[in-house]
Amino acid sequence: MIAPVVLTETAKKVWEAVRAGPKDVADVVQTTQLDQSLVMVAALEAQQQGFFDVKERVRLELDPVPDAAARLQQGLPERQALRLLIDAGGSLSVPDFTQRAQAQGLPVHEIFRWGSARGWVERTKGQPPMVRVTDAGRLAVDEPADDERALRLALEGTRFLDEQALQGVDPVAVEQLLGKRTDLAKLRKRTQRILSLTTQGLEALSRAKVKREQNALAPEDFQSGAWRDITLRPYDVTLPGKTVYPAKIHPLRKIMEQTRRAFLELGFEEVVSPMVESAFWNFDALFQPQDHPARDMQDTFYMLDPARIPLPPPEVVEPVRRTHEHGGDTGSTGWGYKWSEREAERVVLRTHTTAATIRALAAHPNPPYKAFCVGWTYRNETISFKHLPVFHQIEGIVIDEQASLATLLGTLTAFYQKMGFAKVRFKPAFYPYTEPSVDVMVYMESRGKWIEMGGSGIFRPEVSEPFGCKHPVLAWGLGLERLAMLRLGFSDIRQLYQGSLDAMEEVALCR
Ligand code: PHE
Repeated sequence: MIAPVVLTETAKKVWEAVRAGPKDVADVVQTTQLDQSLVMVAALEAQQQGFFDVKERVRLELDPVPDAAARLQQGLPERQALRLLIDAGGSLSVPDFTQRAQAQGLPVHEIFRWGSARGWVERTKGQPPMVRVTDAGRLAVDEPADDERALRLALEGTRFLDEQALQGVDPVAVEQLLGKRTDLAKLRKRTQRILSLTTQGLEALSRAKVKREQNALAPEDFQSGAWRDITLRPYDVTLPGKTVYPAKIHPLRKIMEQTRRAFLELGFEEVVSPMVESAFWNFDALFQPQDHPARDMQDTFYMLDPARIPLPPPEVVEPVRRTHEHGGDTGSTGWGYKWSEREAERVVLRTHTTAATIRALAAHPNPPYKAFCVGWTYRNETISFKHLPVFHQIEGIVIDEQASLATLLGTLTAFYQKMGFAKVRFKPAFYPYTEPSVDVMVYMESRGKWIEMGGSGIFRPEVSEPFGCKHPVLAWGLGLERLAMLRLGFSDIRQLYQGSLDAMEEVALCR
């Protein structure tokens, strides 16, 4: 006895659908209500075993453009031109014809192209050159051509050229005339698959067994013993997976954490420092003169309440005052003005994390010392694609007897490399508290541009010496949001805070 063929429930449906005779895949999909891919899987498997016959038929489908009906109604330009010529007695000089055709709004170039392709008109050389209706043109004037009939039929729903051929339209002529006229209609190749049972398949169907397929076994399947007849459906690892968007940390937070880790790994200590700060720590301690424009209300947010806070003890304030006024013990001549305590007591939202740095320096003036701070900063700035009034800086200092400009550039390069930027560049800059000063640029691959990331330098003696530090101090303040923007491939910094949830979802968990 021959072993019965075992079919899945899906395969059984497909087989049954073609039991009565050959059927198009599309019809099978319709009768079985199965997905086309499932139908094809079942069909190809059956074909491999010799139970199915799968025939492919390539058909040409005519798909008219949306306004094809109107243009047909009006008459294709070459047909309108044909009438024009016949009305004018059958021939005109080329310039004359061109002028009249244009007056009717007809595209002359197309008329010559398609008119002569159909053999309706011909041009004669001579002085002047003439356009003339041919005999074929005269015959054609009241008779729609194959392509016009084809378009009409397609508009009425008979779209396949082989079906149209049954109604007397010549598919070869249609292909020639419409194949390249894509502004009127598109000719598409459609592959149709016809499924049928072979004699062997028909015989197999009569004794086929259906196996129950499930994705998993349920407790009831064990209790009832049904598990014996159930086949577990195999996983198809080739099917596309569904994209999942699990909950995740906001990308900016993540980059902030990576930044902290990078500096911790480089042996830095993390410092925290107030965001609401005295002008003393934000400006004066950094040797910024009290009439410096950066202190202006235009650039800096001042607090109204409290408007002032007490200054640190005199042993901290006095050296700073003396440095501002005449250079103190630093060898500098200072700014040469009367330093005001009142001005230094004003309360600001810190304009840079360098306020944190100088506090750290005051607390630890002796080498070796390395500290960093990632924190909010505030500037009275107009929002733009690269500016935010509230943003974060990545600040750091290195106090070391051996520290030099080379150490500074090396440290910053190492940091950006850890953050995934291979190309780092520096350019000379100016800050009131550093000499030399350098700005840091990184290369933005996506835009092919160098982008400014922040400032750095070596503290002037007027900054470090009043706090008892006689050694080189390297310092930098870098934009965190700029870095994040580049890393995430955003073109606008606002996307970090006001971006769409969708864009946030799309941010990869790791790279
Ligand atoms: N504070 C500077 C800024 O906000 C950056 C900087 C920090 C420059 C430390 C030099 C040294 O742009």
